[in-house]
Amino acid sequence: VTLPHGDALEAAAREKVSPSTYAFYSGGSGPGRSIADNVDAWSRWYLRPRALVDVSKISTKTTVLGAEIDLPVLIAPCGFNVLAHPDAEVAVARAAAAAGTIHVLSTASSIEYDEVIKATDSPTWLQLYTDPDHGVTDARVDAARDLGFTAIAVTVDSPIAGMRDWDSFGADMLAELQRLGSRMPSVNFEATLDWDEIDRIAARSGLPVLLKGVLHPADAAEAARRGLAGVIVSNHGGRQVDGTLPPALALPDVVEAAGDDVEVYVDGGVRRGEDVLRALALGARAVLIGRPYLWALAVAGEAGVTELLGRMRLELEQAMALAGQTDATDVAGDIVVRA
Ligand SMILES: Cc1cc2nc3c(=O)[nH]c(=O)nc-3n(C[C@H](O)[C@H](O)[C@H](O)COP(=O)(O)O)c2cc1C
Repeated sequence: VTLPHGDALEAAAREKVSPSTYAFYSGGSGPGRSIADNVDAWSRWYLRPRALVDVSKISTKTTVLGAEIDLPVLIAPCGFNVLAHPDAEVAVARAAAAAGTIHVLSTASSIEYDEVIKATDSPTWLQLYTDPDHGVTDARVDAARDLGFTAIAVTVDSPIAGMRDWDSFGADMLAELQRLGSRMPSVNFEATLDWDEIDRIAARSGLPVLLKGVLHPADAAEAARRGLAGVIVSNHGGRQVDGTLPPALALPDVVEAAGDDVEVYVDGGVRRGEDVLRALALGARAVLIGRPYLWALAVAGEAGVTELLGRMRLELEQAMALAGQTDATDVAGDIVVRA
């Protein structure tokens, strides 16, 4: 396959999915400003290349939570991949494994967790939506541990549903999911989710715990105090509260507050290898991508996601070389300047 680039990829995917799926995947909350802001904010960081560096060898390898990966571009947890392609989360898991990166599986996976885990030998993280019924939370946590997920990313930007047009996830979507034989996880937001519950989840699971959806440095500092493994700087792809500081601009303060023991990741609007380079320069260990892989999955299934990740790798290698950076674990902070 040859995937279209940029906006043309989204347009091609739009042709492949139902109108309600397109609305669900592409949409955001409120007036939807964050969707474009997230993308645009990356280009507020101008690259300032170093010259006269031997860039004949480039390494995109890094380690995440102690595991070596080939590409610092992880797959963000997105619910209900079956709406894009029948092979759904299994196709995504295989493509991530082939690219040597990590798949973060959504609580709202359309395929059973064990089937997704069994599809590859690669480390996989589980994204956790907690539930007001802690028995439900515990069942997910125990499944993560018992099935061999290597980390839990607790989503903390969703104590309540985002200000979305939830009617668009109404009868149409439910009928489509049923027709496609989707697993039907119940996601019930937990308005009382707090730090003590995070500690409880960490202790129960024995797994490294990351917080997904951090924008404020004080939350990163608290994560460090509590000994958590990582934070993912994210505004949920503009799907929770609209009009936040874009993750690209929130990142530096979070990196500073997190200190040396908490790994910092970022997602939202990452679209090209140059954006990945910017994130690494700003102190992120890796990025995650959401919508781009959903579009690639819709257009060409597993092969599409594989091609997308391969393309991002090539773009990252080229951007690194042209900025005089040879090692993804050691990108100089001064090769980006805020506009
Ligand atoms: C269709 C869709 C479903 C999503 N489902 C989840 C989810 O189940 N859990 C979660 O933590 N984040 C979810 N997200 C947010 C993504 O994990 C990620 O933060 C966001 O998509 C990154 O922005 P990007 O789409 O611009 O790359 C979802 C995003 C989309 C677009």
